[in-house]
Amino acid sequence: MSKLQVSMKVNGKPVEALVEPRMLLIHFLREQLNLTGPHIGCDTSHCGACTVDLDGKSVKSCTMFVAQVQGAEILTIEGVAGADGNLHALQDAFREMHALQCGFCTPGMIVRAYRLLKENPNPTEEEIRIGISGNLCRCTGYQNIVKAVRYAAATLSGATYQEAAE
Ligand code: FES
Ligand code: FES
Repeated sequence: MSKLQVSMKVNGKPVEALVEPRMLLIHFLREQLNLTGPHIGCDTSHCGACTVDLDGKSVKSCTMFVAQVQGAEILTIEGVAGADGNLHALQDAFREMHALQCGFCTPGMIVRAYRLLKENPNPTEEEIRIGISGNLCRCTGYQNIVKAVRYAAATLSGATYQEAAE
């Protein structure tokens, strides 16, 4: 099969590669760029473990061919922390609020929450639940994930986190 030249920016760095046109973006990220933060958790486009940010939108990277992202800017979990190595507020919040157990869903969940907070810096609990509804977690029951997103939203806006009444 003839290969295709692709170029894009991934986590702020220019990337050029020769790929098979049928290669999925998740396989390109994991196998060619060695970015193994985005996970493969299903083969039905349901789980969201493969979520990355593509030109300002959350996408499931198992649903796209790398040929479709020509010229795009992609952010994976590996690019979420600051260049100085400091964790992003969401990463801190997930740790602080115990929002992960096995961690398999976490990279996709955080990248999705990253975009959610860009679009809506002060989401309600319901908006968070709707916002992350494309990302499945088999461990946590979601409660602490929602708390972590609220905690990060408060941190990012300089407010004090207040536990919602349960
Ligand atoms: S691997 Fe499950 S949605 Fe992409
Ligand atoms: S922490 Fe295990 S799947 Fe979410």
